[in-house]
Amino acid sequence: MTADDAGGRTALRLAELAERRAVLAEQSGPERAARQHAKGKLTARERIEALLDPGSFVELDALARHRCHDFGMERQRPYGDGVVTGYGTVDGRRVCVFAQDFTVLGGALGEVFGEKIIKVMDLALRTGVPIIGINDSGGARIQEGVVSLAYYAELVKRHVAASGVIPQISLITGPCAGGAVYAPAITDLVVMVDEISHMFVTGPEVLRAVTGETVDREQLGGARRHNTISGAAHYLAQDEKDAFDYVRLVLGHLPSNNMSEPPAYAARAGLEREETTEADRALDTLIPDRRNQPYDMARVVHTVVDDGELVEVQPLFAPNIICGFARVEGRSVGVVANQPLHAAGALDIDASEKAARFIRLCDAFELPVLTFVDVPGFLTSMAQESGGIIRKGAKLIYAYCEATVPMVTVITRKAYGGGYGVMGSKHLGIDINLAWPTAEIAVMGGEGAVNVIHRREIERAEDPEAERVRLRTTYEETLCTPYVAAERGYVDAVIMPHETRARVASSLEALREKRQERLPRKHGNIPL
Ligand code: HXC
Repeated sequence: MTADDAGGRTALRLAELAERRAVLAEQSGPERAARQHAKGKLTARERIEALLDPGSFVELDALARHRCHDFGMERQRPYGDGVVTGYGTVDGRRVCVFAQDFTVLGGALGEVFGEKIIKVMDLALRTGVPIIGINDSGGARIQEGVVSLAYYAELVKRHVAASGVIPQISLITGPCAGGAVYAPAITDLVVMVDEISHMFVTGPEVLRAVTGETVDREQLGGARRHNTISGAAHYLAQDEKDAFDYVRLVLGHLPSNNMSEPPAYAARAGLEREETTEADRALDTLIPDRRNQPYDMARVVHTVVDDGELVEVQPLFAPNIICGFARVEGRSVGVVANQPLHAAGALDIDASEKAARFIRLCDAFELPVLTFVDVPGFLTSMAQESGGIIRKGAKLIYAYCEATVPMVTVITRKAYGGGYGVMGSKHLGIDINLAWPTAEIAVMGGEGAVNVIHRREIERAEDPEAERVRLRTTYEETLCTPYVAAERGYVDAVIMPHETRARVASSLEALREKRQERLPRKHGNIPL
């Protein structure tokens, strides 16, 4: 009886696959999973299950194995090679995903590991669906030497090619060290998990050896640090579940690719556009009588967008500017808003870079940009000047000028000086500009202005203080209003605050079919 006999050969073949599958299952079995769980982490497969719609994941290359024969590697050739790749759905929409498996060879990237990620990225790009990368890895696989490094370079090349074509989201759910950080850094959004994720170009031990500085992983590259100080991360998740929830929320606002549209929903049920709600009416009393008194711009945003829902991007970084995704009458928009509660809403380096990158993300994926302005100008300080506020503030101007999506701006209060020009002013190419009666659109506030243009009169006056107040009042009444701008068409309409929701909605509707072409060029040269 030979294996070719009916039943024998086929049965053996099937049994072989079953055995390989059993080995695969065993390999990421309970003992390894327990090691991850002990660190407060999920396994790669658990992560994918938690992120995607239940049962939707289809794995690719589960049986791939490395070809390395050095350093005893031939004795351990686990299936999958330490990364789980495939496709599935999120809220019924297709995505591609890879999850580095720290339980297998430390999730370190070697040749086959790299090939697998590249393959699934190429699939995402060919089929026009988002790619989500879950990072938990020791970095370049030391045993495979330069080959590992080569594959990192191959990866970043693909991330760059995919940038602006398909959404790319990175979750950091463990270590991400060395040059490995640059793959996620190129993607659109980086989500880190508090006390679980770490990103650094050089770890604490190397830092101590080279510079003598003693810091721990958390201080050097913890999730909190990257969310609050470096700006390398866009969301600080409390735990992995929170991270996956955030990614799903964000994906719900983005199209699958730059040629398709984000999902649209019905406008808020039971709310007519022209109806004035209590929340709309509350905007009429939001702006304090005292010019320098702060108020919460988030209240304006929440009133204007559907169900008050804003999915903030980098909420802990540069809180003087709010960026986030929301919907207006069921359609996704990107919101950019000065926040007077922090640094009076002034623009600084971090705020400029945060907003510029967000506007470019919106523009790449055809999301209209809705801007709310209350800006006293650029932050004045030696640190800002020498830190490069000229070069870095220019990014925000560049982002607005280059964007071709529908853009609507609402000025609620201050729009002074450079801040006026930069924050979505008409002159940058914004389609519809609205202002509240409380808007103050001028080169600077009254106090500063009289000190410059009336210094001599004030000095000469019998009662300098009274003269200063008189001149300041005249200046403010003449120039710190929306009407000088309205006379010139720099704002299209001065509206009651309670009319904002309806007016924004009708503006965006009017702009829905906007088409704007740029002159052909290879690419612009944004100040970096
Ligand atoms: C091969 C690795 C590895 C690596 C970890 N492992 N990192 N194997 N290459 N880079 C293996 C370990 O040997 C161990 O195997 C298992 O993974 C788990 O690692 P532990 O050290 O036990 O885990 P932990 O204590 O949690 O520490 C995690 C760690 C540490 C902080 C990530 O492993 C570490 O420092 N690794 C090296 C990090 C690094 O320098 N990578 C190179 C970065 S440069 P066993 O068999 O014992 O379970 C880089 C270049 C990119 O990535 C270039 C882009 C152009």
